[in-house]
Amino acid sequence: MDIYKLYVDNDSFDRTDPYDPIVQATKALRTVDHNASESTAIHLSERGDLYVAENHGIITAAAHFEPVPIDGDPEAWIHVLGVRPEFQRGGIGSAMIDYFAVRCLDQNIRQILLHPTPTSLGFYQKLGFTQDDDLRPGKPLKKIL
Ligand SMILES: CC(C)(COP(=O)(O)OP(=O)(O)OC[C@H]1O[C@@H](n2cnc3c(N)ncnc32)[C@H](O)[C@@H]1OP(=O)(O)O)[C@@H](O)C(=O)NCCC(=O)NCCS
Repeated sequence: MDIYKLYVDNDSFDRTDPYDPIVQATKALRTVDHNASESTAIHLSERGDLYVAENHGIITAAAHFEPVPIDGDPEAWIHVLGVRPEFQRGGIGSAMIDYFAVRCLDQNIRQILLHPTPTSLGFYQKLGFTQDDDLRPGKPLKKIL
């Protein structure tokens, strides 16, 4: 499995090709965000916040991951992490979390936060995310690295 940041611009995107990386990444994003469109994926890609897992040439998962450089206490957010349904429970989601943890430590970021969906809560708890005790709205889950 390869995990990497996907950079694609609007001009090189081929909506008619089912193997186009943006077409496939959008399918993965839609696992969590039903409103995600190809323009969502292009926008994230152009911002540098779109990460994908590729298995044997197929994009099986996509995530919107964003380091936030807050003075003194930087953090990173996983806004969306979706593994395409036919590839779930095969270790891809946890491999992406491990990859993000390494990227965080490389940038001296020691906390990852996210808002889980009801069905993904158990997954994140298994990987060591716990409820944050600060006063942010919606109480994110947090993993200290
Ligand atoms: C949640 C999601 C990111 C997890 O990714 P994944 O690749 O399927 O998860 P992994 O295979 O890496 O699982 C890692 C561990 O978490 C467990 N796990 C996975 N999904 C889980 C869930 N929804 N609830 C509880 N535990 C879960 C796995 O059994 C595995 O445990 P193990 O190491 O003891 O075998 C992925 O399933 C997804 O995108 N889901 C979106 C939709 C959704 O929430 N579906 C849930 C349907 S039940």
